[in-house]
Amino acid sequence: MPILDAIYMKARAAGKRIVLAEGDEERTVQAAASIVEESYANIILIGNPELVREKAAAVGADISGCEIVDPETSDKTGVYADLLYELRKAKGVSPEQAQKLARDPLYFATLMIKNGDADGMVTGAVHSTGDVLRPALQIIKTKPGISVVSSCFLMELPPDNVYQPGGVLVMGDCAVIPDPSADELAAIAIASAETGKALAGIDPKVAMLSFSTKGSAKHERVTKVQQAVAKAKELAPDLKLDGELQADAALVEAVGKLKSPGSDVAGQANVLIFPDLGVGNIGYKLVQRLAGAEAYGPIIQGLAKPVNDLSRGCSVGDIVAMTAITAVLAAQQ
Ligand code: ACO
Repeated sequence: MPILDAIYMKARAAGKRIVLAEGDEERTVQAAASIVEESYANIILIGNPELVREKAAAVGADISGCEIVDPETSDKTGVYADLLYELRKAKGVSPEQAQKLARDPLYFATLMIKNGDADGMVTGAVHSTGDVLRPALQIIKTKPGISVVSSCFLMELPPDNVYQPGGVLVMGDCAVIPDPSADELAAIAIASAETGKALAGIDPKVAMLSFSTKGSAKHERVTKVQQAVAKAKELAPDLKLDGELQADAALVEAVGKLKSPGSDVAGQANVLIFPDLGVGNIGYKLVQRLAGAEAYGPIIQGLAKPVNDLSRGCSVGDIVAMTAITAVLAAQQ
């Protein structure tokens, strides 16, 4: 079954409340109408109700089944400002700053989740990844036992793909940590394997990618990946994980056997961990555009509650899919 179909089924069963912070954005209201019609989640739109309804009417979206909350008039804004002040006073946030920030739709939506008034959030059709993630990092923070927030993409290959027809590859980190340390790389690997298992039902085989395979090149960037492999094996001894591997050694059976004989990952990897964000972001976009893969993400991993980012070029369908993914992740918290 295509991964999205399985995700939609799980989302419907989860019945979660997902907040869309850019409630007065045209693609967002269209997505909201379709999410509610399909019962993938209960939707809360943030924005001025008149403006939100105006935008919905302009694009013919029926949002009568969505809740609309305006931070300017909500009776919760004061509660959220107090909550924000308590959480951030040690970082120098004053009560006045907290009052102002709580009126910002992205902070308001994040505080809604923190306060238990919503189960997850999807945003980023207008705002940048940094704008979406910063409130989540400051307010929701990481899951217990998790030190770092990162991301991955689920890449669904087309049915005629020569490598793996219709297969799913998980790629991380493609959106969050610009230059991960060895420890952060290990955390990205473990989290991406878990996301792949939870959302796509894969049996993860994790390749820690590099321009070197098992010491074929010597460089500090290769050493970092080798250290990450050691750390990940220490933290998750049962996870099938190997590296450092070049992409061909990770993916192509004959090359994997030649370059890393005896490996239970080389030649059959389905989770690819990139050594930094430059490679990761460029890499997933190349697979999406050149191989015609569907790219679902970035799926943010490691937060105590799910907050997911959209690309500013996203379609209505992307928002629907990301909302369903967020609902499934919320059900698994
Ligand atoms: N994991 C956990 N906590 C983090 C992380 C992380 N990865 N990054 C920052 N934090 C914490 C900080 O410790 C800090 O906590 P504190 O304020 O309680 O002490 C808080 O979050 C804010 O940290 P800042 O340093 O102010 O945040 P920063 O400005 O570095 O922003 C961000 C973090 C937004 C994730 C940044 O690293 C970033 O911009 N990454 C790149 C995003 C991007 O542009 N991606 C490419 C586009 S996406 C795409 O194409 C799909």
